[in-house]
Amino acid sequence: MRLLAVELADFRNVAGALVVPHPRCNVFHGDNGQGKTNLLEAIFLVGTLTSFRASRVEEMVRFGATFARARARVERSGLERLYEVEIATQPARKVARVDGKSVRATADYFGGFNVVLFAPDDLQLPRGAPGERRRFLDRAVWNAEPALLREAQTYARLLKSRNALLRTPDAARLDDLLEVYDAQLAAAGAAIVARRRRYLGALAPRVAVAFERITKSGLPLCIGYRTRQQGSDGELAAELSAALRADRRKDFARGFTSAGPHADDLELTLDGRPAGLYGSQGQLRALVLALKIAEIEQLDEVLGDAPILLLDDVSSELDEARNADLFAFLREVRCQVFITTTHPAHVLLHPDPGARCDFRVTAGTIARS
Ligand SMILES: Nc1ncnc2c1ncn2[C@@H]1O[C@H](COP(=O)(O)OP(=O)(O)O)[C@@H](O)[C@H]1O
Ligand SMILES: [Mg+2]
Repeated sequence: MRLLAVELADFRNVAGALVVPHPRCNVFHGDNGQGKTNLLEAIFLVGTLTSFRASRVEEMVRFGATFARARARVERSGLERLYEVEIATQPARKVARVDGKSVRATADYFGGFNVVLFAPDDLQLPRGAPGERRRFLDRAVWNAEPALLREAQTYARLLKSRNALLRTPDAARLDDLLEVYDAQLAAAGAAIVARRRRYLGALAPRVAVAFERITKSGLPLCIGYRTRQQGSDGELAAELSAALRADRRKDFARGFTSAGPHADDLELTLDGRPAGLYGSQGQLRALVLALKIAEIEQLDEVLGDAPILLLDDVSSELDEARNADLFAFLREVRCQVFITTTHPAHVLLHPDPGARCDFRVTAGTIARS
């Protein structure tokens, strides 16, 4: 899949921009604070309907404006489509359209084009909080399997209701009601655990191979899914249900639900030890790079088409050797790539200048350079 054109209007500091990207590599350079990440955020928003940094959609509307719009014309398997997201501030809302027709349910929007983002924050993943790793994992899973989105929404809704119930006065007397919630929550949770586990099962060997290719260290890297549920897919709901029942008193006391996919984690083990605790910085960076490479390869295989790759200032965070590994991968991969950098000289892309296009970003304007 390829972006043929990207258009922004009143999106963050970009009043208006039309970018016609190269089918392979696009490098956006400029000083800090000029709008490079804003452009990637807009592309990511059009691809996923979420931002990777705004907590509220209206943050993305240019100061003083009431609407923002981001559009992408996308080619996939010979078919062209126009994906569009519009954000209003008063009241705050987001409208998504495909070929001009608004799409109601978020889940109906997906599958048209896929983006994978690699940003400096990702490098903190092995040492970061479990919630970050779950988000990373879910983002990867849902890119390959959009059905996760609805399952996750259902689960989040049920979990919120159960937690609210746990906090009501005299909640201990609500056992019967809790029984009903638990059955639904267990079924919804089991679907997520099964999906994440299956996805990671397929990803793990790819990550190990990519890691060895990068580090040539011979150290075994294992990635897996850490959960209290150990049964087969068919047993998960019953197992989760039993865990919810067993934890019920504790949950009442704490006011939230202990067991379930919201408490699980992505497990990263290097040479038999938790990577986040014992890995060197270089190893952890190679690990994250390997995770990203594996995610892209797997997506390429599942979709039969390479995703669009967004790299936000990553080369500035990597040492020279890791950078060379990254660009060696980028030269091979079939993705259309969008890279931002403050130092274009660090971007060791294609030796063939015909495979790349450079843009300069200055105070919200984006121009070929
Ligand atoms: N809603 C907004 N309206 C106008 N400008 C914004 C908005 N949100 C962020 N900005 C501006 O965007 C700039 C940051 O852009 P960013 O893309 O992160 O820079 P960089 O080029 O370093 O990646 C800052 O100058 C910030 O003030
Ligand atoms: Mg930036």
